[in-house]
Amino acid sequence: MSALLEVRDLDKRYRTRHGVIHAVQGVSFDVREKETVALVGESGCGKSTVALSLLHLIEHDGGRVRFEGAEFDQLKGRREQELRRDLSIVFQNPYSSLNPRMRIKDIVGEPMRTAYGTRGRELVERVREQLEAVGLGPEHLRRFPHEFSGGQRQRIAIARALALEPKLLILDEPTAALDVSVQAQVLNLLRELQRRLGLSYLLISHNLATVESIADRVLVMYFGRIVESGTVSEVFNDPRHPYTRALLDSVPSIDPSQRHRLKPLEGDLPSPLRPPPGCAFAPRCARAAHDCTARPPPLGSIGSREAACYHPLGG
Ligand SMILES: Nc1ncnc2c1ncn2[C@@H]1O[C@H](COP(=O)(O)OP(=O)(O)OP(=O)(O)O)[C@@H](O)[C@H]1O
Ligand code: SF4
Ligand SMILES: [Mg+2]
Repeated sequence: MSALLEVRDLDKRYRTRHGVIHAVQGVSFDVREKETVALVGESGCGKSTVALSLLHLIEHDGGRVRFEGAEFDQLKGRREQELRRDLSIVFQNPYSSLNPRMRIKDIVGEPMRTAYGTRGRELVERVREQLEAVGLGPEHLRRFPHEFSGGQRQRIAIARALALEPKLLILDEPTAALDVSVQAQVLNLLRELQRRLGLSYLLISHNLATVESIADRVLVMYFGRIVESGTVSEVFNDPRHPYTRALLDSVPSIDPSQRHRLKPLEGDLPSPLRPPPGCAFAPRCARAAHDCTARPPPLGSIGSREAACYHPLGG
């Protein structure tokens, strides 16, 4: 499998009234064709910032993004537009991501109208096909978002994201705002669409059960950096980074037989305005030693996966 998306040393700082927040630091990863890569980590660790930077919805401060071998930042004109169609996003909250004043046919049809100038009956036909692909009938075409349930709205958002036939879909917490029973239906739809359309997914989630059920590989992010990466089974069954271990131990749903071991993640994330020196997990880490606070541990190979820790957990 070749890399569809290559991200190298992505860096993003937010300049706020209170100071600079280094939200993403040296993040590198690949997403290959037809693969699902999950980005996990606590709230505020920088997951959405990575997604928005990839889509150029915010400008990043450093690093490179390549898509199908082409440098994303250096593309101009038509080629840039073509490439932008290949990348699409579904946001967390289908209640706020769909324009309440637009009918479904216009919400789903807008990307096709803008990109290809599709209009009239042809546009309606294309929207009808897109809705059908996500399990919604043509009777919905003239309705407004408020007439739909959360799960249906997320289907509409997925139909819109797929309108230009992207190769890679970024899913930023696609089921977090939905009822548990509806979450499974949306995940099944995403799985089916991936199989049918050969899509790649970058799935952002702090729901590890969701990640386990759908992803091939996982990137664990902490305080702006990737601290561990590998296949889902490697990382979830045999984590090497103490943060990954703590994250897994804090989740009840991932393995019911282990539920008695449930431990809340202790300590708070450090203030992003005052990052600790060295490893950002040190203030919360039981294995922390002197050398941990000198400089941030680099991401190094441990077998076929990577972890950024001076004293990784044993295999
Ligand atoms: N527009 C912004 N201006 C200033 N700081 C921001 C902005 N957006 C995000 N941040 C900060 O950047 C850091 C990373 O935020 P981000 O939203 O990327 O995290 P996240 O992992 O997506 O969190 P969540 O799981 O809550 O969605 C946080 O410290 C956040 O407060
Ligand atoms: S580098 Fe040190 S403080 Fe950081 S996770 Fe590893 S052992 Fe813990
Ligand atoms: Mg987010």
